[in-house]
Amino acid sequence: MARHLITSAIPYINGIKHLGNLVGSQLPADLYARYQRGRGNEVLFLCATDEHGTPAELAAAKAGKPVADYCAEMHTVQAEIARGFRLSFDHFGRSSSPQNHKLTQHFAGRLAEAGLIREVSETQIYSKADGRFLPDRYIEGTCPNCGFESARGDQCDNCTKQLDPVDLINPRSTISGSTDLEQRATKHLYLRQSEMRQQLQDWIDSKADWPILTTSIAKKWLNDGDGLQDRGITRDLDWGIPVKKGDQDWPGMEGKVFYVWFDAPIEYIACGAEWARAQGLDDSAWERWWRTDKGAEDVTYTQFMGKDNVPFHTLSFPATILGSGEPWKLVDYIKSFNYLNYDGGQFSTSRGRGVFMDQALAILPADYWRWWLLSHAPESSDAEFTWENFQASVNKDLADVLGNFVSRITKFCRSKFGETVPAGGEIGPQETALIDALTTRLRAYETFMDEMEVRKSAQELRAIWVLGNEYLQSAAPWVTIKEDADRAAMQTRLGLNLIRLYAVLSAPFIPDASAAMLGAMQAQDATWPEGDLGAWLTALPAGHAFTVPEVLFTKITDEQREEWQTRFAGIRT
Ligand code: MF3
Ligand code: ZN
Repeated sequence: MARHLITSAIPYINGIKHLGNLVGSQLPADLYARYQRGRGNEVLFLCATDEHGTPAELAAAKAGKPVADYCAEMHTVQAEIARGFRLSFDHFGRSSSPQNHKLTQHFAGRLAEAGLIREVSETQIYSKADGRFLPDRYIEGTCPNCGFESARGDQCDNCTKQLDPVDLINPRSTISGSTDLEQRATKHLYLRQSEMRQQLQDWIDSKADWPILTTSIAKKWLNDGDGLQDRGITRDLDWGIPVKKGDQDWPGMEGKVFYVWFDAPIEYIACGAEWARAQGLDDSAWERWWRTDKGAEDVTYTQFMGKDNVPFHTLSFPATILGSGEPWKLVDYIKSFNYLNYDGGQFSTSRGRGVFMDQALAILPADYWRWWLLSHAPESSDAEFTWENFQASVNKDLADVLGNFVSRITKFCRSKFGETVPAGGEIGPQETALIDALTTRLRAYETFMDEMEVRKSAQELRAIWVLGNEYLQSAAPWVTIKEDADRAAMQTRLGLNLIRLYAVLSAPFIPDASAAMLGAMQAQDATWPEGDLGAWLTALPAGHAFTVPEVLFTKITDEQREEWQTRFAGIRT
């Protein structure tokens, strides 16, 4: 049994995510976790909310709530929506957890001991009206690069250039709007990532099997002068993990916290510790996933994320891990995604454009979204959501191909043989040919799933559904039964067993429909078809009772499509 540690990029706490966020990390990670479990492997699948930094503080202020309360509430909301989408995390943690406080301070202490942290005195913008420093998004002004008037302190949203708050022209506080600002001296910690260039280069070079999207971004940042600059890992903020060296105070750093991008990836590990605690297990339970000196040497660790997260996961976080000099598990494979666009433009959280996870679930069940999103995952290029395409793919793939197959064979059996698997007949050449074709496609499906080729996997699965439909169409038990009742019984029996096959194979994509199919077939055993498929397809024997399931998928009508198109054309308020 192989062991798979799987993490999804942890979503920011400030608000509900849109479908573009979902398809770029959490959903494909869930697909892979469900598949690995389906194959009988041991899986630990972790995700959490990313709760620190200025976005969290600003969102809380906007909601008029203390930031800790805001984060606790939003965590519950995000966890609920994740359940709605059937994201099968073993634990959905919080980067503000005590476990993450402890580990983040631990890593900082180790890095300091290794000489990889330097203290820098610098000037930062201080707002007299607000009585505080204004890091990152607490300040806005005109971009010195492109002239955009609402550039944020850390980045210009218009030209994407990374900025320093002191670079902004006509800066103003985003808290009070005050322009009564001055530059004040303050001290910060910098991670000396530039010292680790060679080590990171060697590590990335050793990953010949990584997807091009991941390595091209990593190498660009590694070789580009800006990419591996030493990075400030502290901030003058109240909310966050207090700067400490392990459990010791850090003189001169009182009142400061770690930068959100320093503590967020460490939450992947801390989340393991949260999971163990929630399960009532001791530390060895999570350490056997995360420490190569404590059992993690045979773990395969895969991370899922959008392309904007790649630099942090290929350079900064590995710098933290390698720099600690401790045997923490490093990532083995990074699966990254391009962007999903929405109906001719971009999804945008800040502008409320597109369909958000809660809205999606309010109009249709999770499986419909999961199927469309995964079968159109933005892998080799950006992808686009349109309502026409969504309607077509739900109606064709799910309702016509899969749903129709299940409904036809179960209803036919009920009307001619009753609600038990019929006895009689032997498979012939047509069935052998079908089983051969299914076997070839099944092995291809497994290969694509092993390789995390999400779209290709979806295509292969759909082709497997189509084979069943084509068989049913040409075998036509409703015709056969007029001359040869035994042969019709055999065809029907095979058709019912195909439903069980479809339930097992489709579970990673459409878990609810899969459960409905297994339930209707009253199948106790849902183990993956390893070995001889022909034999596996006899598991529901003659005499086995089943029920005709409710309609698995309802078609999307043109009226619905038009209504949603209009409803989601504007900006969410
Ligand atoms: N919150 C970030 C985002 O949504 C992702 C953080 S991933 C981690 O883009 F590495 F920090 F964990
Ligand atoms: Zn700009």
